[in-house]
Amino acid sequence: MAELAVNVDHVATLRQARGARYPDPVAAALAAETAGADAIVVHLREDRRHIQERDVRLLRQVVQSRLILEMAATSEMLGIALDIKPDTVTLVPEKREELTTEGGLDLITHQDVIREAVSTLKNARIKVCIFIDPDLDQIKIAHKIDADSIEIHTGAFCDAESQSRKQREMARIVDASKIGAKLKLGVHAGHGICYNTISAFKGLGEITEFSIGHSIVSRAVLTGMDRAVRDMKKQVQGL
Ligand code: PXP
Repeated sequence: MAELAVNVDHVATLRQARGARYPDPVAAALAAETAGADAIVVHLREDRRHIQERDVRLLRQVVQSRLILEMAATSEMLGIALDIKPDTVTLVPEKREELTTEGGLDLITHQDVIREAVSTLKNARIKVCIFIDPDLDQIKIAHKIDADSIEIHTGAFCDAESQSRKQREMARIVDASKIGAKLKLGVHAGHGICYNTISAFKGLGEITEFSIGHSIVSRAVLTGMDRAVRDMKKQVQGL
């Protein structure tokens, strides 16, 4: 059975929008674990637009499942990872101007830097996953540089508007996951997966973990709305 890793970045996005103390991604992570999350994921970005270092440190102390830290392979981030020691680091590309991670890491271009980062993290007993597009050459390099697992970028599939494009993108994901598993890499998948698109992965047993954030946090905002309004209304009526 595949596992669900819940990304709580966008709880922090809401907090940062007001510079407030709430909603706290740490509290959200604990609630996600109570509901069955198999791992908690956060992306500490260079610009600290949502998750802060404080969040990662607190999560390390309280998460009882597994803590996955997404980060760029920079010396600053490697220093933080070695200090906090998440269970897994997922190496991702990062551009300041992007809204969200836009593509997988290009291991053909960045092989040396990423190989060095993988070795540094693994020497500290941190597992390393690499976020890549469903591309055979990228997967072969991930294997060559000794990553523990790959996370296949599912964004192109999830965002595809036509049926034919969806089929093409899913075929790439299927091939990539089979090749990854054959090379004995852990095979994960993530980006853009929502309540409508998750069913398309049925039967793809090679994928052992799905990393999902935006759709879960978005649904939580609405499914929790009824209770949130009732609680405030009761207080207002009691004035
Ligand atoms: N995996 C990676 C590597 C990501 O960068 C993200 C986005 O933070 C996700 C999974 C989750 O994507 P989404 O928020 O669209 O579910």
